[in-house]
Amino acid sequence: MLRIDVITIFPGLFDAFVAESIIGIAIRGSQLAVEIHDLRSYTTDKHRTVDDSPFGGGAGMVMKPEPLVAAIEALAGPKGPNRSARVVMLTPQGEKLDQNRLAGLALTQRLVLVCGRYEGVDQRAIDLAVDDEVSIGDYVLSGGEVPAMVLVEGVARLLPGVLGNPESAVNESFQGPTLEGPQYTRPAEFRGHAVPKVLLSGDHGAVERWRCEQSLEYTRQRRPDLLRSPEGEKPS
Ligand code: 6GU
Repeated sequence: MLRIDVITIFPGLFDAFVAESIIGIAIRGSQLAVEIHDLRSYTTDKHRTVDDSPFGGGAGMVMKPEPLVAAIEALAGPKGPNRSARVVMLTPQGEKLDQNRLAGLALTQRLVLVCGRYEGVDQRAIDLAVDDEVSIGDYVLSGGEVPAMVLVEGVARLLPGVLGNPESAVNESFQGPTLEGPQYTRPAEFRGHAVPKVLLSGDHGAVERWRCEQSLEYTRQRRPDLLRSPEGEKPS
């Protein structure tokens, strides 16, 4: 069982996410527990303030350190080797998320995810309480909430017993160094476009070979970077 606690200023965003689809299945199957925590409940002032203007001036707001560190320490304990959970902050300044990191996180017992806001988080809170900083890619989002959902979904489907068919976790894009090729279902002809004949042939060996070729061809055309290094990682 993996337990994930999420610290956010927008707890309502997670309601449908934790109830539906693969996350709901993992939670009902007791492979996963997800708890959402409103950062505002860790404030102590009348206005429940979670951010303030940046020292030195500039646009935007910065998340205050006190409620953030209080929330993280309440859920994970103080930073150090004895803390009860790994604390990951979602921020565009983080290391880019990939399948390797998801696989590592899926082996953890407890995770605390901190949703940062785009403009920033007081550096002292990060230094004092956060273990890892993770980004989901080179583009700008307003907050870490959607990135946290990306991480939770990516980890949940790797937990043992969550996917109906364990093969579907094996064959996929990024598990190996190539992308998945094209897939087809009924009808065999749609708007004058036929399904590739080999898929209807009943020859499992031929189907497997065709899928390998297609997968390699897709990868060559769309993500040649995945073929250039042995781990399928982008050259640094
Ligand atoms: Cl983790 N946060 C924000 N705000 N923007 C992002 C991101 C994270 N990853 C990519 N863009």
